[in-house]
Amino acid sequence: MSVKCLRWSLWLLCFLTVAMLWYLNLPSYTVIENLNWMYFYEYKPMNHSEFTFTLRERETCSERSPFLVILVTSRSADVEARQAIRITWGAKKSWWGQEVLTYFLLGQQTEPEENLLALSVQDESILYGDIIRQDFIDSYNNLTLKTIMAFRWVTEFCPTAQYVMKADSDVFINPGNLVKYLLTHNQSENFYTGYPLIENFSNREFFKKTYISYQEYPFRMFPPYCSGLGYVLSGDLVSRVYGMMAHVRPFRFEDVYVGIALSILKVDVHLPESDDLFFLYRIKFNVCKFQRLIAAHDYSPKELIQYWQLVQKESSC
Ligand SMILES: *[C@@H]1O[C@H](CO)[C@@H](O)[C@H](O)[C@H]1NC(C)=O
Ligand SMILES: *[C@@H]1O[C@H](CO)[C@@H](O)[C@H](O)[C@H]1NC(C)=O
Ligand SMILES: *[C@@H]1O[C@H](CO)[C@@H](O)[C@H](O)[C@H]1NC(C)=O
Ligand SMILES: *[C@@H]1O[C@H](CO)[C@@H](O)[C@H](O)[C@H]1NC(C)=O
Repeated sequence: MSVKCLRWSLWLLCFLTVAMLWYLNLPSYTVIENLNWMYFYEYKPMNHSEFTFTLRERETCSERSPFLVILVTSRSADVEARQAIRITWGAKKSWWGQEVLTYFLLGQQTEPEENLLALSVQDESILYGDIIRQDFIDSYNNLTLKTIMAFRWVTEFCPTAQYVMKADSDVFINPGNLVKYLLTHNQSENFYTGYPLIENFSNREFFKKTYISYQEYPFRMFPPYCSGLGYVLSGDLVSRVYGMMAHVRPFRFEDVYVGIALSILKVDVHLPESDDLFFLYRIKFNVCKFQRLIAAHDYSPKELIQYWQLVQKESSC
């Protein structure tokens, strides 16, 4: 065997030893199989008032008593997506005689162009009056703070809303269908619906975006919850969930977090009667399908505009 080969073998051996030692030193966490939501409950309430609203809607919601308020998570740079929503499904304020208001939820932008962007968000707010913003740093891992902000805002400034929907900004929504759905159910209390994720597993594959460590989340299963693409709650639940949020430490996935709060409150997910109302994964455009649905996920601003126009035009279904 050549010296070179021997040297390489030694390096390899060395590397394997280090790797093995590192592996053995990893803290080991056991997965807890039996679900108990009280695990997340803390008796001492936290103070969620640490962040302040830096922008608020212009038209005060509390004086309007809307039937439905749609709160869309957005980021400063997503101007195009906000514009698309403003001229498509967010444009009309009344469906089947019920008032529907749409607002955007923002955090503080951190990118260096901050001054330029901050100015344009301010301008946007002056122009449209539909931006709700707090001073926490806007990032994917801080989405839960945005949801807490949404629940706080409804509780403090829009307590008379009959229903509240939290949606993502890349979602195609038919507010008319949602209003009709809510009117038919006429369940003004304890109502929680959306795309149901019952028995969803927590993801332990390290390199996935949705990876979650055992330290953060020790159970194998998530509670029954509705996907963050767009979930709907009756107004009474919003303030109850907000109250519960003070006892549940923020957790990275905002939809699961809301699901945990609702599980502690013993509120079940209302399963939509048909599976052509909420779509978690992108579906191919089809006029009839899009006229029937309530919310479908994963569309660009351009697609939102294009599909909305087609859906308004065609009526041959
Ligand atoms: C929560 O924090 C805010 C701001 O830090 C403070 O004004 C308020 O009094 C606190 N509330 C409670 C209940 O501690
Ligand atoms: C979330 O926001 C807080 C408050 O602004 C900030 O201190 C923290 O670094 C943010 N976390 C992430 C992951 O961006
Ligand atoms: C909804 O239910 C309430 C009471 O449960 C009732 O007073 C009301 O008339 C109902 N509305 C419709 C549209 O069915
Ligand atoms: C399960 O939960 C993860 C994390 O919230 C989510 O990203 C994933 O889409 C869920 N699974 C399914 C089948 O949707």
